[in-house]
Amino acid sequence: MHFSTSVWLSLLLPALEATAQAVPKQNYTCTNFMVKVPVNNVTVVVPPIPELPDQYAATAFANQITLRTPSAPDVNLTTLTKTFNISAEYCTPAKSGPKASTLHILTHGLGFNRSYWDFYLPGKPNDARYSYINSAISAGYSTLSWNRLGIEPSTIADPYTEIQGPVEIALLVGLTTLARAGNISQVPVPQKVIHVGHSFGSELSVSLASVAPDITDGVVLTGYSAISNYSTFFVANSALHFANVNQPKRFPPRTYSSGFLTWPDKYGNQYSFFAYPYFDPAVLDRAEATKYPFTFGEFLTMSALPLDAPNFEGPVLYLASQEDLIFCASNCTGLFGPDSAAVQSFNSSSSVETYLQPNAGHGLNLHFNATGAYKVILDWADRHGF
Ligand SMILES: *[C@@H]1O[C@H](CO)[C@@H](O)[C@H](O)[C@H]1NC(C)=O
Ligand SMILES: *[C@@H]1O[C@H](CO)[C@@H](O)[C@H](O)[C@H]1NC(C)=O
Ligand SMILES: *[C@@H]1O[C@H](CO)[C@@H](O)[C@H](O)[C@H]1NC(C)=O
Ligand SMILES: *[C@@H]1O[C@H](CO)[C@@H](O)[C@H](O)[C@H]1NC(C)=O
Ligand SMILES: *[C@@H]1O[C@H](CO)[C@@H](O)[C@H](O)[C@H]1NC(C)=O
Ligand SMILES: *[C@@H]1O[C@H](CO)[C@@H](O)[C@H](O)[C@H]1NC(C)=O
Ligand SMILES: *[C@@H]1O[C@H](CO)[C@@H](O)[C@H](O)[C@H]1NC(C)=O
Ligand SMILES: *[C@@H]1O[C@H](CO)[C@@H](O)[C@H](O)[C@H]1NC(C)=O
Ligand SMILES: *[C@@H]1O[C@H](CO)[C@@H](O)[C@H](O)[C@H]1NC(C)=O
Ligand SMILES: *[C@@H]1O[C@H](CO)[C@@H](O)[C@H](O)[C@H]1NC(C)=O
Repeated sequence: MHFSTSVWLSLLLPALEATAQAVPKQNYTCTNFMVKVPVNNVTVVVPPIPELPDQYAATAFANQITLRTPSAPDVNLTTLTKTFNISAEYCTPAKSGPKASTLHILTHGLGFNRSYWDFYLPGKPNDARYSYINSAISAGYSTLSWNRLGIEPSTIADPYTEIQGPVEIALLVGLTTLARAGNISQVPVPQKVIHVGHSFGSELSVSLASVAPDITDGVVLTGYSAISNYSTFFVANSALHFANVNQPKRFPPRTYSSGFLTWPDKYGNQYSFFAYPYFDPAVLDRAEATKYPFTFGEFLTMSALPLDAPNFEGPVLYLASQEDLIFCASNCTGLFGPDSAAVQSFNSSSSVETYLQPNAGHGLNLHFNATGAYKVILDWADRHGF
């Protein structure tokens, strides 16, 4: 095997930004609550195979997903009507200005809970350098973040038949509709709503713009390129470990069946989510210790998400991490031009801007310069009148 000199040099670079400035936590209030969100007659996929009986079967499913010659399996469809409990948090500036009536609805990706948007190292509660929420509040905005379905204390639903993409889209649509209607008592009716996503949360945000374009005013997509080719690296690196064996104390088998899956360890986490040397190893440790599983049902329905939004007319920002593994095979350069799938997905949008954040991997918010990326997003919001 041969590596070019520049690759070796970058591997040897010291963590130059380890001394980056702490970001002070702003003075603001947040409210935690549960919302009951109904989903009505959503089309779901009947799993075409029995529940994964053992780890060998789960790993073999990883081989199936990453096959050179994929084919859509024959599946039966059914519908789901149910009300789920969704854990959410509303934050708003202590001193409310005009921007506080713009609500950023924050949807996290696979492997996290909503603390992805509000990440702190243990023992450093006042160092907000990884908190999107703190930056958004500093810029005057309000935020609503939520734990997706299956992420406690939101309902830990069935990972085969219920925790599926179409159900999660319906929940994001439902949560947004409730907030806009003033039906969440903790959330004042917003004047404008921006959907901000990370990775799978970006896919859900695009899907919302596709199926319900009238309930969003702007879309910000991080950790997402609209190219699914490279997500096979994530699946291969994960090898679809059972969460209930990988972290049995946090994910006991009585609550987390074989449909809840994860990657093996912190180096697997690094490979998929982090660009070296642009992160603090303590952040990687914390991310691994607080990770959450993804589900069989989410992979079963990955190709069923409506990832084109031709009827959405508002502005869109793609904020990609330059070294994103999952959506760019660690090099996003060239994947966001005018003819790219990313830009073409929003062919009626008033404006589609794309920006490559340097020195960051897929887990954008967990890198040294996360606040640099937040500033790009918040400046975009300001320029577009939010
Ligand atoms: C934060 O703001 C509240 C309300 O304005 C005020 O009572 C409190 O003293 C402030 N706390 C700090 C640490 O500034
Ligand atoms: C549920 O959706 C299916 C199509 O997906 C439709 O045929 C059916 O009429 C719907 N049922 C109700 C009660 O709306
Ligand atoms: C679809 O449903 C039919 C009727 O219940 C069943 O015979 C068939 O095996 C199912 N196919 C799959 C792929 O689940
Ligand atoms: C939602 O929470 C209520 C009260 O804790 C509980 O009774 C209900 O079973 C929960 N619903 C689901 C779908 O988990
Ligand atoms: C909001 O609550 C009102 C009063 O309970 C109800 O009539 C309306 O249908 C609700 N809207 C939504 C979107 O749930
Ligand atoms: C993704 O894969 C498809 C088919 O496998 C190929 O046609 C396409 O060029 C690939 N896209 C990129 C950006 O590599
Ligand atoms: C996120 O998960 C961590 C680890 O389980 C937990 O400490 C934290 O309270 C969770 N945050 C939310 C908002 O659920
Ligand atoms: C936008 O894309 C859709 C497919 O997603 C296509 O049907 C439509 O014709 C395109 N519109 C324009 C103006 O190119
Ligand atoms: C990333 O891709 C671009 C376009 O193909 C190429 O010019 C550049 O050298 C690549 N960067 C790295 C670090 O390989
Ligand atoms: C931090 O991010 C901002 C916004 O992308 C960028 O302008 C700046 O150069 C970055 N700083 C470093 C040290 O990477």
